[in-house]
Amino acid sequence: MFENMLTQEEILLGNKVSVSILSADMTRLAEVIKELENAEADMLHFDVMDGVFVDNISFGVPLLDAANKCTEMFMDVHLMIINPYKYIEQFVNAGADMITFHIESESDVRKTIDKIHSMGKKAGLSIRPKTPVDVLIPYLNILDMVLIMSVEPGFGGQEFIVDSLQKVRELKKLIDDSGRKIDIQIDGGINDDTAKLAVEAGVNVLVSGSYLFKSDNMKEAIMVLKNIR
Ligand code: DX5
Ligand code: ZN
Repeated sequence: MFENMLTQEEILLGNKVSVSILSADMTRLAEVIKELENAEADMLHFDVMDGVFVDNISFGVPLLDAANKCTEMFMDVHLMIINPYKYIEQFVNAGADMITFHIESESDVRKTIDKIHSMGKKAGLSIRPKTPVDVLIPYLNILDMVLIMSVEPGFGGQEFIVDSLQKVRELKKLIDDSGRKIDIQIDGGINDDTAKLAVEAGVNVLVSGSYLFKSDNMKEAIMVLKNIR
């Protein structure tokens, strides 16, 4: 009966929740950030869109800079832009703790990861729903995190793509085989139901936006996601 019990370390670790501020009320961003701090969110997720890599424009360096002045929270920056390499320095100077960019972008992947690391920050690589997991293999020895998109990037509030779970399973196996400790993040359509499926498949960092901002009690909703096993 004991083999399924979690170790003390696993109980303490749990999942991490990165809150996508894309669906926050921007007229009161500073207050929202304080609320998220009190709700014990682990990270703030910034969805940067340039209208070229994705069909939408969101926000960029000035907003990250302003948010960073309001909090000590971990800044998880998701770049959905065509040339991430060019902007790494600006995002790090504005407060990014981790920068995730897309393998489908036009920047040299290794050069971009190296640039992020050279500035002392964590590097993540993301794949769109139609991109196979295999393309990540050459970079697993240098990445800190992989982000599996569970919606087509560009907009919040979309429905979770169930096929992404198979990609998480494949990635988890590759990571386990590599012997390295790499976080697996999932982003898009995450609520209490889809988060369960994602965690079962191997995810340990859950990005969630519209579900959390629509909930009546942000703190409880975050706790639910964090405590999923
Ligand atoms: C989509 C973004 C996501 C998304 C998450 O391009 O990367 O972060 O906004 O929002 P929800 O949780 O609303 O799908
Ligand atoms: Zn995102």
